[in-house]
Amino acid sequence: MTRWLNQMTLLIREFCPGDELELSRVFQSSIRELACVDYTAEQIEAWVGASLNPELWVIRMRELKPFVVEVNGVIAAYGDLQDHGYIDHFFVSGMYCRQGLGSMLMNRIIEKATTKGISTITADVSRTAQRLFSRFGFVLVEERTRTIRDVVIPNTLMCCDISSLEKMNRKNTSSRFHQSDIL
Ligand SMILES: CC(C)(COP(=O)(O)OP(=O)(O)OC[C@H]1O[C@@H](n2cnc3c(N)ncnc32)[C@H](O)[C@@H]1OP(=O)(O)O)[C@@H](O)C(=O)NCCC(=O)NCCS
Repeated sequence: MTRWLNQMTLLIREFCPGDELELSRVFQSSIRELACVDYTAEQIEAWVGASLNPELWVIRMRELKPFVVEVNGVIAAYGDLQDHGYIDHFFVSGMYCRQGLGSMLMNRIIEKATTKGISTITADVSRTAQRLFSRFGFVLVEERTRTIRDVVIPNTLMCCDISSLEKMNRKNTSSRFHQSDIL
């Protein structure tokens, strides 16, 4: 995969009120352009529907307070970590697929978990994201489903034990996912 982001200005930062509209664009692009490979058109539209009520979307984003990745000043990805260690949203805009933004976000999330003393990160991971989560040490816990507007959407509960990850990182300090990759 050719990576072209190194000519761009990358910034990872905390959520700010006012980001919500851009985040809904990332959410929709990510599901329609990337997750569409692994889900039916009906599942994709039901999933996207979660962002279509602007008032509820704003409330949700302000609750989640995700990390936001900007490419040349435009939001290209976002992902959160809740206090109990759960990742609720994790989305990369379609045009930035396989450029390392998902990895950058995950590194930041793991760094936050470590700082906050969170020992286990969990997420209901889409089919599309399972490979990325596995690369960061997440293991499958159980197959699950979410039902949105009567449409069943399969995912997998995955979890990551931060202490085993730290041991793994110490063994492999040359990993491309080392913390110093974070801008
Ligand atoms: C899953 C997702 C977040 C990955 O983001 P990304 O920025 O493309 O990920 P990265 O470039 O950091 O990828 C790192 C590695 O993860 C794996 N990976 C990422 N996307 C993949 C895909 N679509 N298929 C297979 N492997 C994938 C690869 O091993 C990749 O390394 P490589 O490119 O060197 O082969 C993005 O595809 C997305 O937003 N998908 C749709 C929404 C979604 O499913 N969100 C997750 C909800 S839990």
